[in-house]
Amino acid sequence: MTLLSVEGLTRRFGGLVAVNDVSFTVSEGEILSVIGPNGAGKSTLFKLIGSFLPPSAGRVLFEGAVVSGLKPNQVARKGIVRTFQETTVFKEMTALQNVVVAHQLGVTASPLGTFFSSAAARADERRFRDSAAEILDYLGLGHVKDVEARNLPHGYLRALGIAIALAARPRLLLLDEPFAGMNPEETDRAVAMVEGIRKRGVTVLLVEHDMRAVMRISDRIVVISFGSKIAEGSPEAVRADPAVVEAYLGKDDETIGH
Ligand SMILES: Nc1ncnc2c1ncn2[C@@H]1O[C@H](COP(=O)(O)OP(=O)(O)OP(=O)(O)O)[C@@H](O)[C@H]1O
Ligand SMILES: [Mg+2]
Repeated sequence: MTLLSVEGLTRRFGGLVAVNDVSFTVSEGEILSVIGPNGAGKSTLFKLIGSFLPPSAGRVLFEGAVVSGLKPNQVARKGIVRTFQETTVFKEMTALQNVVVAHQLGVTASPLGTFFSSAAARADERRFRDSAAEILDYLGLGHVKDVEARNLPHGYLRALGIAIALAARPRLLLLDEPFAGMNPEETDRAVAMVEGIRKRGVTVLLVEHDMRAVMRISDRIVVISFGSKIAEGSPEAVRADPAVVEAYLGKDDETIGH
């Protein structure tokens, strides 16, 4: 079943076409990666899908309904949730508190912000704590749940960002460079984590430069270069595609297929 359809999506910034007539679909349960050289338009594409930016042309459909034009929180409530290239956590709070707060922020849109006063709110708080603890457990962060975010190593901090996103109960999780800055061991753990997320029924759309991880984790890959889609297919097909190799030529740090 098609969960997400991107149709002719275009975004201009003045004279620059950051995303140029990009179309693709994401099936339910799939891990699909979007790759491309620096500045190709990947993060802009994510912002368009999450409605953090309006498209100049084209549209995004989620479960067959147009979501372009909705506000980011409305899109999130429909189940499209994105992490940011740099996730913000509350440094003075523990990992668990951060994920509890993420649950609470998810309900601030509900009428009457009497969150901390009523009995119902206290019940919510317990429910949120249980849910937050469960998310941290299955991401392999259970043992650091009481550690303040500022004391967490980089890899754990990134994983905490994903835990925060999962608090919103996404159907489609958009991850922008989740493995950036991770050492190989942290990356292995994070790859397993993303596979675990998919096993729990969350579809994953990933932007990532770490080709080893992308090739390992993706069911399909969409390649964009200078805003336009230049290839799409299985990791094997994309890796062997001359247009993709060409787009990556001259990039010392991003050689494809190793
Ligand atoms: N708000 C903005 N205003 C003007 N130009 C922008 C804006 N956001 C992005 N751009 C430009 O659009 C192009 C695509 O940027 P984008 O951040 O989407 O690339 P990217 O593929 O995510 O790159 P990276 O791999 O480095 O994260 C770049 O040329 C960038 O400078
Ligand atoms: Mg980016």
